[in-house]
Amino acid sequence: MATVFIIGATGGVGRRLGPLLVQSGHKVIGLHRKLEQATNLSEAGISPVQGDIIKMSPKQIAEAARDADVIVFSAGAAGSGIDRTTAIDGDGPIKAIEAAKLLGIVRLYLVSAFPEAYRQKETADSFEHYMSEKKRADAAVAASGLDWIILRPGVLLNAEGEGTATMGPAIMDGSVARGTVARTLLALIEQPSVRREIIELTDGPTPIKEAVASLRQS
Ligand SMILES: NC(=O)c1ccc[n+]([C@@H]2O[C@H](COP(=O)([O-])OP(=O)(O)OC[C@H]3O[C@@H](n4cnc5c(N)ncnc54)[C@H](OP(=O)(O)O)[C@@H]3O)[C@@H](O)[C@H]2O)c1
Repeated sequence: MATVFIIGATGGVGRRLGPLLVQSGHKVIGLHRKLEQATNLSEAGISPVQGDIIKMSPKQIAEAARDADVIVFSAGAAGSGIDRTTAIDGDGPIKAIEAAKLLGIVRLYLVSAFPEAYRQKETADSFEHYMSEKKRADAAVAASGLDWIILRPGVLLNAEGEGTATMGPAIMDGSVARGTVARTLLALIEQPSVRREIIELTDGPTPIKEAVASLRQS
């Protein structure tokens, strides 16, 4: 059983992932920003640790994650500005890598995005900046030497999903329920032989565990 530190534990994906991990017997530490979020996390069996990823140093992140053997990064600035996007989506995973190395944690799961997401309709400079920060983080994670996974979900839907998905190193862009993303992260965490892979994810017909089992193992 793993002890998983979730950065973004209160977000659309993170708040689904934490309880799934707990129900599967894992320990979970959840980073949260606001004091009042601690109660919900505790009630779900998650150990809350308060902190703001923008202000935290890698050493402080390592202190928050000190009992963990897996880090999940699912935080995001969610369109709250250029500087916050740089600090959260770009710098955040890089600090998480440094924290993992300080602790000797090797397993890091980054929730990223399809590089071609929204290309047909989103042209704002802020969106291009978001995509380039996601890519900067992907590149740092892929070069980290850790046992990383970069998970690139399609457009996120506020839904639980059907327990099925389409995933692989290169698939067509689409949408995906946040519940599907959470269940895929759970399945990946429980299949550590899938590592050092970029995995694109949409809703689709294959049962999630089966889809994860069919990914390259090493
Ligand atoms: N939206 C899409 O269609 C889409 C598509 C592909 C990938 N993604 C990516 O998927 C990931 C998960 O998305 P989501 O929908 O679950 O995100 P979300 O609901 O916006 O949640 C973001 C999480 O990050 C946390 N956070 C924000 N700023 C923080 C800070 N300074 N310090 C610590 N935590 C902070 C939030 O905490 P609070 O609860 O305090 O706000 C929340 O837990 C994100 O990285 C996102 O960029 C999104």
